[in-house]
Amino acid sequence: MRAEPVLKWAGGKRQLLPEICARLPARIHTYFEPFLGGGAVLFELAQKRRFERAVVSDQNPELVETYQVIQRDVESLIKILSKMPHSEEEYYRVRASSPRLPSRRAARMIYLNRTGYNGLYRVNKSGQFNVPFGRYVSPRICDPERLRAAAAVLARVEIRHSDFEQTVARARPRDAVYFDPPYVPLSETARFAEYYSTPFGEAEHRRLQRVFAELVNRRVDVLLSNSDTPLTRELYGDYCLETVAARRNINSDGTRRGQVHEILVGGPLRTGLRLGATA
Ligand SMILES: C[S@@+](CC[C@H](N)C(=O)[O-])C[C@H]1O[C@@H](n2cnc3c(N)ncnc32)[C@H](O)[C@@H]1O
Repeated sequence: MRAEPVLKWAGGKRQLLPEICARLPARIHTYFEPFLGGGAVLFELAQKRRFERAVVSDQNPELVETYQVIQRDVESLIKILSKMPHSEEEYYRVRASSPRLPSRRAARMIYLNRTGYNGLYRVNKSGQFNVPFGRYVSPRICDPERLRAAAAVLARVEIRHSDFEQTVARARPRDAVYFDPPYVPLSETARFAEYYSTPFGEAEHRRLQRVFAELVNRRVDVLLSNSDTPLTRELYGDYCLETVAARRNINSDGTRRGQVHEILVGGPLRTGLRLGATA
């Protein structure tokens, strides 16, 4: 089976995969993806054997632990998930639980992701998951083939719980980095995305731009996606910047969907970019 994301994740890059993969090198020594989320790009590149090794990270500890369990102990995970029934009562029981074993915590994460409202991940100030029940008719809670395919990919991947800056510190020429940070909000009224308890605000986007520029100077192949806003244009105006059309949920509860423009930014080493083109 094809390796595909095992979690639904806000900002998932499935529909932009061809655009993104076409702009990454055909052969990559070490592939870095510091904002992993659902990992759509990682799984696609792995499927096509485009890298020798990979280093990925995310700041969400539950997400990272889930991937580590898939990597080390996918069969225990499948066993636990296959016994988890789908009902509203069970959902709230699982949501309120705090399992001690990593494999049970990973099963809880996948269960809540498959059966919670819109696949959202949201925690309150004390770090407790607070997304309501999703009312899906028959969600696929346990998909053994998909989990095993993901485990085969993750077997050759280093998975870290760290900040993006540390993750890419060791990148060198012949490596490639893909940055997919939480989006800059599209309007003044939209709040900065709060994927985890600390919001990724303007100061973080500026720090990311400095890391991006430093990697370009070190001759690492870099690609970044973000929403098309005055801030992102200001930050990346000196690089190869392209606009691509994407469909996306444009508010956090997914009730408004529409076409928006995203930007893909590559360093000056990149060739074949159609500058300023709209797909
Ligand atoms: C837009 S999502 C990535 C979506 C992903 N590309 C996909 O296809 O599903 C951004 C991710 O960055 C993570 N994140 C936020 N701040 C971070 C930081 N400082 N360092 C690393 N990861 C961070 C969030 O937890 C979230 O999973």
